[in-house]
Amino acid sequence: MVVLALGLLAVCSQLFSYPWVWAFPTAIGSNASFPASVVRSKPRPLVLWHGLGDSHSSPGMMKFADEVKAVHEGIFVYSIYIAEDLEEDRKAGWLGNINDQLATVADQLNAIEELKDGFDAIGFSQGGQFLRAYVERYNSPPIHNLITFGSQHMGVSDLPMCEPGPGYIWCQLARRAARNGVYGAWAQANLIQAQYYRDPDQLPAYLSRNHFLPNVNNELPEDYGLSGTSTAPTTERNATYATNLKSLNKFIMVLFTEDKTVVPKESSWFGSYAPTDSLGTVERNQGQVILAEKTIIPMRLQPVYMTDAIGLRSLDERGDVLLETCEGEHMQITRLCWKGLVNEWVGGPM
Ligand SMILES: *[C@@H]1O[C@H](CO)[C@@H](O)[C@H](O)[C@H]1NC(C)=O
Ligand SMILES: *[C@@H]1O[C@H](CO)[C@@H](O)[C@H](O)[C@H]1NC(C)=O
Repeated sequence: MVVLALGLLAVCSQLFSYPWVWAFPTAIGSNASFPASVVRSKPRPLVLWHGLGDSHSSPGMMKFADEVKAVHEGIFVYSIYIAEDLEEDRKAGWLGNINDQLATVADQLNAIEELKDGFDAIGFSQGGQFLRAYVERYNSPPIHNLITFGSQHMGVSDLPMCEPGPGYIWCQLARRAARNGVYGAWAQANLIQAQYYRDPDQLPAYLSRNHFLPNVNNELPEDYGLSGTSTAPTTERNATYATNLKSLNKFIMVLFTEDKTVVPKESSWFGSYAPTDSLGTVERNQGQVILAEKTIIPMRLQPVYMTDAIGLRSLDERGDVLLETCEGEHMQITRLCWKGLVNEWVGGPM
């Protein structure tokens, strides 16, 4: 049942690709009128990882690369792919095992001569948390500055909304099924978004069955007072992850102010919802049920931060974590949004 329903989810996501496109819009703020003064002799290379619904060489990605080249003359820009074929690459954003994909990407980057002395990296949407995972697990060759746009560093607590239209009812059904089946073996091995689905009301299940996010976030049951339970595993934190993340020069996380695709949008800044059973309240007032607004736990109050489990706190206390905003809905990357960041943190001298 669950497998079937999740299969439908995958189908639904393809049919209703618009709300699922956590990717680069084709219309980016354009016009390359950049001052010649920023030309440098040997700019550090740049690696891009596209978002969900996008591919390594979509018009939006190519245009972005061209605009970066106009800012930093002579820069080598490389776009990560899982499959060279554009349609296969797009599909790999939904279907696959992210741990395997990361291993492939590490081999890919390691084989590129131009990147051997390190590079800056920009991750769009889910590409952002995948690049952070690359830093923690591999980082060879190393990333210097990492910029993530609208990424889901503390996962997502809801799947993107279904748009009204044909098949809407199936999409909704699949979403509901995913709430129960998202930590099942099939979803964890095959559905990329399930591998960063973090349900604050099902933390034991998330911690024990999610194959990806609890690992790269070095989250342990004890962080949530769950040590005594038999449902959550006791593992150890991987110290390499913190060592590697701390080796970044700057970690820049961009949140979209009107983001309604990433739930909650604060995940782009390492925020998450608090579990409802601890902080949510239901008030009964003359027969009315009032649900309290969901509480956000911000980055600096997250156990993953407070315990310095991944080196994020060290990086922040060093002044090297930058929390930036862009106006607009998810991945509405205007020139106003990206240009300053690319000017300052991309393509510095080697
Ligand atoms: C781009 O530049 C041209 C010429 O300078 C101008 O006419 C046009 O309005 C600009 N377009 C945008 C989107 O800024
Ligand atoms: C910790 O991470 C490193 C880098 O990915 C890996 O080589 C190592 O096997 C991991 N250690 C454990 C105990 O999982």
